[in-house]
Amino acid sequence: MSQPLVLGIETSCDETAVGIVRGRTLLANIIASSVEEHARFGGVVPEIASRAHLEAMQPTIEKALKDANVSLKDIDAVAVTAGPGLVGALLVGVGSAAGLAIGLDKPIYAVNHLAAHISVDYLTHDHPLEPTIALLVSGGHSSLLQVNEITSSIVKLGQTIDDAAGEAFDKIARVMKLGFPGGPAIDAMAKEGSATAIDFPRGLTTSNDWQTRPYDFSFSGLKTAVARYLESVPDYVRADVAASFQESIVDVLLLKALAACKSSGIDSLVIAGGVAANSRLRAVAQARCDKAGITLRIPAPGLCTDNGAMVASLGALMAAANRTPSPVAFDADSSLPVTTISIQL
Ligand code: KG4
Ligand code: ZN
Repeated sequence: MSQPLVLGIETSCDETAVGIVRGRTLLANIIASSVEEHARFGGVVPEIASRAHLEAMQPTIEKALKDANVSLKDIDAVAVTAGPGLVGALLVGVGSAAGLAIGLDKPIYAVNHLAAHISVDYLTHDHPLEPTIALLVSGGHSSLLQVNEITSSIVKLGQTIDDAAGEAFDKIARVMKLGFPGGPAIDAMAKEGSATAIDFPRGLTTSNDWQTRPYDFSFSGLKTAVARYLESVPDYVRADVAASFQESIVDVLLLKALAACKSSGIDSLVIAGGVAANSRLRAVAQARCDKAGITLRIPAPGLCTDNGAMVASLGALMAAANRTPSPVAFDADSSLPVTTISIQL
């Protein structure tokens, strides 16, 4: 199966998303988000997300098939996010995908959400870079990974020891009353401010940290420092706070990602996950990678945040590599480790 037609379903958080790919060509990418129903709570409410997935699932599948101009019987394989994520939300996608696979008598690939974030890059760029260092930064995760082969071998180098990068954006945006999700709002506001106006801390970058946990992240100290600053400087300039806060995150993420490239001798870097949509992260990453002779790949901003195309992409890569499909009766796993790329018996 060299150009498999794969339908991918993503429901790990608040997006009901269905993508359809043929091999590495994107045919449809439909997203129904319940974000507005969560906004007034300042974060995703699991029960609301699950109910929204149930309502949106069927129309989203139908719209994706229409967009791709294919019918269900053309599908060669189904892929679905099995974890990590909110278990009630995941179960809606998993149940729907299993039903489709059984009904169509086609294989199912129950894949890892984090690996899928990285694999979406394979739809954008012709030649996969493997091995590559991957910086995965989303609302729930921040990890540095070594991807030896996207369907079979991902090694974790480090991760956040407290908040995820996107979570830090969301929490600071909440304190600054910028709404939810906070990343895009801070990104926009930071454009009007100075990144060097306030010298916020860079987590886990002392010389001792570089010795003991070079590839781990910590953003809780930064969060506290920003909150204290807002309290103690009543006439603060919002755009300067946004820009300086964002700069601290961008700086640390890239210091560690480039250090991982250097020490592993791997001269390519993929940045994926919702925070990879950040315009400052994208610009600074490009400048630093150019200087260090590292090839950088970041998916288009619209493919960085949660979507179904990334799940379909990983499913299609699995099928093309003749990986064993998942058993049809598998469990969603809210804390599936990134090293488990797909669920196997
Ligand atoms: O990957 P994603 O869509 O969902 C998870 O798997 O968590 O990531 C969502 C996160 C949110 O925290 C959101 O604030 C952040 O990505 N995000 C951004 C930007 N766009 C989304 N963070 C910074 N700058 C952005 N432009
Ligand atoms: Zn995600």
